[in-house]
Amino acid sequence: MKVDVLIIGAGAAGLMCAIAAGQRGRRVLVVDHANKVGKKILMSGGGRCNFTNLGVTPASYLSANPHFAKSALARYTPSDFIALVEKHRIAYHEKELGQLFCDDSSKQIVRMLLDECQQAGVRIETSCGVERVRRSQEGFSVITARGEVHAESLVVASGGLSIPSMGASGLGYDIARQHGHAVLPVRAGLVPLTLSGKHQEHYQDLAGVALPAVEASVGKRSFRAGMLFTHRGISGPAILQISSYWHAGDDLRIDLLPDQEAAAWLSAQRVARPAAELKNVLADVLPKRLAQRLCELWFESRPMRQYREAELANIGAQLHDWPMVASGTEGYRTAEVTLGGVDTDGLSSSTMQSKLVPGLFFIGEVVDVTGWLGGYNFQWAWASGQAAGEVV
Ligand code: FDA
Repeated sequence: MKVDVLIIGAGAAGLMCAIAAGQRGRRVLVVDHANKVGKKILMSGGGRCNFTNLGVTPASYLSANPHFAKSALARYTPSDFIALVEKHRIAYHEKELGQLFCDDSSKQIVRMLLDECQQAGVRIETSCGVERVRRSQEGFSVITARGEVHAESLVVASGGLSIPSMGASGLGYDIARQHGHAVLPVRAGLVPLTLSGKHQEHYQDLAGVALPAVEASVGKRSFRAGMLFTHRGISGPAILQISSYWHAGDDLRIDLLPDQEAAAWLSAQRVARPAAELKNVLADVLPKRLAQRLCELWFESRPMRQYREAELANIGAQLHDWPMVASGTEGYRTAEVTLGGVDTDGLSSSTMQSKLVPGLFFIGEVVDVTGWLGGYNFQWAWASGQAAGEVV
């Protein structure tokens, strides 16, 4: 079969690229080895797809080249995607921090993309794996499970390694290396952290305990959001966010009371409630079981009147700077994204085209551009897909 554009991967980036290319009259084929398209879109945002973020800026992305994402993000903005969502009459709302979700279901986003593909004459083949990719006179020859496809342009939109049970594979990295591209080391991002040894023993039975607002920090980077204890360690938005910046051995600190001056507050409590025990006082601002555990591990719980000012200052300081010794991450099994990937040095930032092999493009998560939690990763998928779709 001959097409103008072959796209490997019918996820967010691949479908977006297909729409833009199809609308330009290009003959587009999208192949995906999964049995249905957009599986990650379907499972995203708890089934409601956090499809973009109103606060997208290039600073919300991790990449060896922090400038790379600027051009595509500037040319296809959250407003552009919102216009598409509104054109399809999909109701949405802002949950918090600029995060936009469907009111009903992420299925609507997949339906929207498929409708747009259909109107643009895009052909999609699911359950169609890719066996081999070669350069040919016309461009590329790709052996798929349904036979050989000849294409002028080849777009690799096969995503990262996160959630292998949903069809994630390293094919994109293999194709990149095969064509001379560097692939930067990959690791799981937006992922729960694990604890081990005594650190796990200390907190294991707190699984399910949630804090609405902590500030998790690694070095100078910090995120203020919720945190959750799990059976294996810690999770919740603040932890997922900081996980992308955390490397094994890094010092992770948690401010348990970021909105309070803890020492001054404790001092005031000593005056107001001299007979109350510290663990009960702390239970006013922290989950009760955590307050109890902190008192078992760190500070003896006594009636407030028995604490000296200096002791309360010390307790306050510890509450603002809780050292969490993480042993690792839960890995690709639960990670929302894959950090690292195809080195942007080898790609044009305006078109996503390879600088080494004309006609070869890399878009979406396979590229070394990874967003924060909160709709940033889909916005990168849409923007990079659109950038390539305009020129393939
Ligand atoms: P994506 O992974 O979507 O698509 C790649 C496609 O390539 C898949 O369909 C796959 O089957 C196919 N493929 C892979 N290997 C292949 C092979 N060898 N042959 C053929 N096809 C192959 N982001 C966000 O902004 N908001 C959110 O709410 C969420 N929520 C969320 C929840 C969960 C549980 C996860 C795992 C991830 C998110 N994300 C997210 C991240 C977001 O889903 C992700 O960044 C984008 O889907 C990336 O889009 P891509 O198109 O690049 O890859």
